[in-house]
Amino acid sequence: MEIIIQPTADDASMIAARHVARLVRDKPHAVLGLATGSTPLPMYRELVRMHKEQGLDFSGVTTFNLDEYVGLPPEHPASYHAFMWENFFGQINVQRERVHIPDGLSSHIPAFCRKYEEAIVATGGIDLQVLGIGSDGHIGFNEPSSSLASRTRIKTLTAETRRDNAQAFGDADKVPFHVVTMGVGTIMDARHVIILAFGDKKAEAIAGAVEGPITAMNPASILQMHPVATCIIDEGAATKLARTEYYRWVYDRKPDWQKL
Ligand code: GLP
Repeated sequence: MEIIIQPTADDASMIAARHVARLVRDKPHAVLGLATGSTPLPMYRELVRMHKEQGLDFSGVTTFNLDEYVGLPPEHPASYHAFMWENFFGQINVQRERVHIPDGLSSHIPAFCRKYEEAIVATGGIDLQVLGIGSDGHIGFNEPSSSLASRTRIKTLTAETRRDNAQAFGDADKVPFHVVTMGVGTIMDARHVIILAFGDKKAEAIAGAVEGPITAMNPASILQMHPVATCIIDEGAATKLARTEYYRWVYDRKPDWQKL
């Protein structure tokens, strides 16, 4: 795993945005795996800026979002559909029919999940998957103890995640218990994975993911087995890592042609 520590969340987000932009320029029909939450917001803002000011063209891009709450209609303000259209899709020229977000209202969730997996395969697979991380190490909504080989399916949220995500609902009691999420195995199939984390609230989860043993108790730790994983974090999220000096040393010596 490449570990890139940046002074601020904005600096880290610029690097992530440049990775996405380079892929979209090199491969106009790229397939992006996308995340919600506060973490990717500065990256989305920068990509919107690149679209508006530099003509970054998303018209051929296909997207697959990681997850959605079960029982929320797409127009619900706390749904991930609403989040994505408000913060990203509504501000770029992505084609509506190329956008995929799990359906929280599906009447047959297992069949929907199978189709979601098939749709990813039919596009040729995800080129770049962007991830945040939960304070318990979850990726997508794959909570601790999730199978590290799991595919898209229904999951039940932990009490911690329901508390963490309460803000969008105004009240923790209103957060749904169930979600549909890409599996850990689905995420691992992406050709490149970028995981972002900001602030000391994420420090423990990041330390476990990067330096801990690979364990379903920290689902993000499976990224240690991914051939092309990039972890881009700010100083706060790096505070519990043991080998920060080494990671900085490596990044400072990165050949210019590899830098973004
Ligand atoms: C939710 C999402 C995750 C996200 C996590 C962290 O649980 N399902 O994909 O990584 O929240 O959220 P935030 O970035 O707001 O800290």
